[in-house]
Amino acid sequence: MKHVVDAGKTLLVDGPACVSVLSGNVSVLGALLPLEKNLVVREGKRLPLWVNEMATVELMLGEGACINEVAEGTVPSSWDEAVKELLALDKPVTVMVMGGVDSGKTSFCTFLVNSAVMADLRTGVIDADLGQSDVGPPSTVGFSLVNQPVKDLFELEAQCTVFVGSTSPSGSISKVVDGLACLKDRVLVAGLDFLVINTDGWVEGKEASAYKVGLVDAVGSSAVVGIQQGNELTPVLDSLRSIKTFVIDSPQLIQPRSREKRKLLRKLSYKKYLKGAKMQSFSFSWIKVEDSLLGAGAPLHHKRLNALTNLLGTRPIYSEESIGAILAVLKKSEKVTETQINDAIEHFGKPVKVIREGDEQGLLVGLKGEEDTFLGIGVLHEVDYKRKALKVYTPVVEKVYKLCFGQIKLNKNFREIGLSTVYSVNL
Ligand SMILES: Nc1ncnc2c1ncn2[C@@H]1O[C@H](COP(=O)(O)OP(=O)(O)OP(=O)(O)O)[C@@H](O)[C@H]1O
Ligand SMILES: [Mg+2]
Repeated sequence: MKHVVDAGKTLLVDGPACVSVLSGNVSVLGALLPLEKNLVVREGKRLPLWVNEMATVELMLGEGACINEVAEGTVPSSWDEAVKELLALDKPVTVMVMGGVDSGKTSFCTFLVNSAVMADLRTGVIDADLGQSDVGPPSTVGFSLVNQPVKDLFELEAQCTVFVGSTSPSGSISKVVDGLACLKDRVLVAGLDFLVINTDGWVEGKEASAYKVGLVDAVGSSAVVGIQQGNELTPVLDSLRSIKTFVIDSPQLIQPRSREKRKLLRKLSYKKYLKGAKMQSFSFSWIKVEDSLLGAGAPLHHKRLNALTNLLGTRPIYSEESIGAILAVLKKSEKVTETQINDAIEHFGKPVKVIREGDEQGLLVGLKGEEDTFLGIGVLHEVDYKRKALKVYTPVVEKVYKLCFGQIKLNKNFREIGLSTVYSVNL
């Protein structure tokens, strides 16, 4: 359907939808839309089409999509003011953007990145929001150079990535902080003028504040922008005395997303980063594993294996021992009691992790090349404990040196089906 919009208005498009500007002058968060080029709006996403000159747009609306016309711009003036000051700071500039869930962080980062690119600054963006990441797959921290204005950060391909393996930072704080600091150093040496860092919506409470302050310190930000809806950011901003801080408004017409919509957005992102995937097999003997009990130890001495078998009342199909723990894998059908496991722990004087074959199915993994370079994600299909080989569904074609097990499980449609600590060292 065709839709005519007057100058000075905003057309809000809630996806899933496809938009094409037939005439007029329309921009999204500062990025001008080329004429007659399809723009996809993902389900769970709202794009504000600001009309500079009266425009005719062609719209295809999918199920649940809708449009609304607003008689003004939807970018708060506080965004413009902050952007002006940020672009004027001494280069190179690193800006970290913070705010609660659905406060407008990603949209402000997009607006800021576009402004920096249009000011001819060599610009990059790091998305450190593990849960709603637009640069890189979910559960990663991803970096991308930005050479031209974008409507949606999701258009960008991650060029450098750190695999964390969970969609919430709370259990992986040091991994995110260290990963972000290392990523920032790597990209700044690439001669950036302007680096924008997006963060997650976890801001309430002491642990969240400490985490955010830790992120700011770790990357040595030049400035912090807080999108304040109440005073949820005050504890963080108050403790950032030596850094320039900006408090900006959350847009009135923000579109809050349900847990279901958030999951759906992640599913689309897994799909994007698993495109072209094939089943690949990796042998335990020539691949290293990171942060995992599997592949970290050596087969149990036969006497210890017999003792374990007696204690558990069944013989594991696979077992290995490292300094810190024993991993025992049982047939799918085998059952052991808590008491039996506790007896084994007491006997060996260390944690004994008992899992079953198949528990690993669907586990998200990160694949790494030489020198720990991130190559891509994959989904663990199965572990053949007899042949000591792992089958991973992944688009990665380069030589893989290391696997990192995540804590997220996906079904065959890339939908999250739960968390798993099957190989996790956190016993
Ligand atoms: N200025 C704006 N005008 C219209 N819609 C907006 C504006 N800013 C944000 N939105 C919409 O509101 C929703 C939430 O915004 P955004 O994704 O930027 O928030 P966020 O803080 O990054 O959320 P999350 O916590 O999920 O990461 C999105 O669908 C977005 O398109
Ligand atoms: Mg976001």
